[in-house]
Amino acid sequence: MAEFDLDAYVGRSRALDLSAFAWEDVPRHPVPAAAVRTLRYMQDIESHTIIYLRSLLATRAIDDPEVSTFLACWLYEETFHGIALARFLEAAGHPVGTRAQPRGQEPWTKRLEAATTAMVSRAWEDFCAVHMTWGAINELTTLTGYRRLATVAQHPVLTALLEAIMLDESRHFFFYYRQAEIRLRRPTVARVARLLVDKFWAPVGSGVQPRAELEFMAGYLFSDTDGEAAARKVDDTIRRLPGFARVQLLEAWMNRYVGGRNGYRHN
Ligand SMILES: [Fe+2]
Ligand SMILES: [Fe+2]
Repeated sequence: MAEFDLDAYVGRSRALDLSAFAWEDVPRHPVPAAAVRTLRYMQDIESHTIIYLRSLLATRAIDDPEVSTFLACWLYEETFHGIALARFLEAAGHPVGTRAQPRGQEPWTKRLEAATTAMVSRAWEDFCAVHMTWGAINELTTLTGYRRLATVAQHPVLTALLEAIMLDESRHFFFYYRQAEIRLRRPTVARVARLLVDKFWAPVGSGVQPRAELEFMAGYLFSDTDGEAAARKVDDTIRRLPGFARVQLLEAWMNRYVGGRNGYRHN
C-alpha cells in the first residue's frame, strides 16, 4: 500500500461544503423509513466523535505528533458529517431534535471503557497499534455502511451527500490502516492488538445508541446478498493486517446478532 501523505491530508482537510447539495430537492424524492432510522443512528455517531476523542486524549495518542495532527483534522471532518446528515434529515422532514441523553453524560459502562483504555495505554507503550487498527476497522465499516445506504435508499441528494462523506472516510481509513500496518509489524505488538480486538471489538456506535438500533441498521444494510458480500470485504481487508489473518469481525457479528432472526428484507 502507498504511503499516507499527512501534509497533503492536512492541507486538504476541510469541512464539507454544505452549499454543494440540492437540499430543496430532498422532499421531491421518497426517503424510505428504514433509511431515516439508519441516518438517525449514523448522524448520532458522527456527532459523538468529540466524546470518543475525549477518551483518546487520555491515551498515548497525543504523544505521537502524526496521530495527534491527524486527530485534529479528523474531528473537524467528522463533526461536519454529523451536521450534514442532520441537515438532510431536517430537509426530509425528520429533524434530529434534542438528544434524550446529553452527550457529555455517558453511561457508566462507557466511562469504565474509557478509564480501561487509558489504563491499557499507560501500561502498554505500543497502545497506538490497537488504536490505529480499531480506527481502520471503524472507518472501513462506516465507509462501507454509507456505500450500502446510498445503494439501498436510492435518493439522489442523499447519494451525492454520502459520496462526499465517503471521500473523507476513505482518507481516514487510509491513515489508520497504513499506521496499523506499520505498527503491527512487530509480532508481539500484533499479538496483543489481536487479542484486544478479538475480545472487545463491536460495531461502531455500540453502547452509544441502543442495541436495537444497531441491529436494525446492520440488518437494513448488510443482510441481503450484496450486503453480505460488502461485510465480507471489510473483514478480508482487515485480515491483511499483520497478525489479523482469519479475524472474525463484521460477518461473524452479523451472523451472531442479525442473521435470519431479524434480518431486513428489501422489497
Ligand atoms: Fe464520518
Ligand atoms: Fe471517518
